[in-house]
Amino acid sequence: MEKSVYVREMFASIAPRYDATNRLLTGGVDERWRKRAVRELAPPQGGRILDMCCGTGDLSFHLSRTDPTLHVVGADFCEPMLDGARKRSGKEAKGDVAFVTADVMALPFDDASFDGAIMGFSMRNVVDIVGTLREARRVLKPGTRFVNLDVSKAPNPLFKRAFDVYFYGLVPLIGGLVGGSKSAYRYLPNSLTNYPNADELARRFAQAGFTGVRYVRLGGGAIAAHVGTA
Ligand SMILES: C[S@@+](CC[C@H](N)C(=O)[O-])C[C@H]1O[C@@H](n2cnc3c(N)ncnc32)[C@H](O)[C@@H]1O
Repeated sequence: MEKSVYVREMFASIAPRYDATNRLLTGGVDERWRKRAVRELAPPQGGRILDMCCGTGDLSFHLSRTDPTLHVVGADFCEPMLDGARKRSGKEAKGDVAFVTADVMALPFDDASFDGAIMGFSMRNVVDIVGTLREARRVLKPGTRFVNLDVSKAPNPLFKRAFDVYFYGLVPLIGGLVGGSKSAYRYLPNSLTNYPNADELARRFAQAGFTGVRYVRLGGGAIAAHVGTA
């Protein structure tokens, strides 16, 4: 099956319990990483910000809580995930937050129409990383930022081994029990296997035309937030 079709169906199957499973799997520490990613984005007051692969809207709501003057657009191609985002919106959106159905590899937005873009825990799922980065850059105004927050390959071998036990062993087990789909939570860690390491991902940012590319390692290097300027 084509990867994007598989990914969409897989997320549809875990959407109803996605948020609860996420919090359980990370012990809630993902909230800290998300806050840090929003800080790295430094969205300008009143700006229009794109949350790519928004899922159930976590980063969109973080953005709107951080600065209610922002106009946040969350884009995702999985309707059941977007349903979750729309349900949360009434309680959690502090400003203008809208959710749209879109494939991040072909965004339905004009060139240079956003003041910042962010993507959380999703780059591993796209078919073409450089193509997605180019698309992010296309919709950004020159000089604005894109931040990608995702799982990464920890440089410390001991930590990496411990993390692998958790990620490849415990995540599918807990995901199966709580999240409702063992195969989905087996896919998610495996998607890291072919994902570029932090330096290589930074190179892909540059390849897509971003400048001033840098990254911050979080969670002992198991997570990275990459930042590039359009
Ligand atoms: C692991 S979830 C992350 C959701 C959210 N960003 C978060 O931080 O919780 C990955 C999301 O990426 C979406 N996704 C994957 N590939 C996509 C694509 N090509 N276009 C739009 N959404 C995509 C999936 O539907 C899913 O909602």
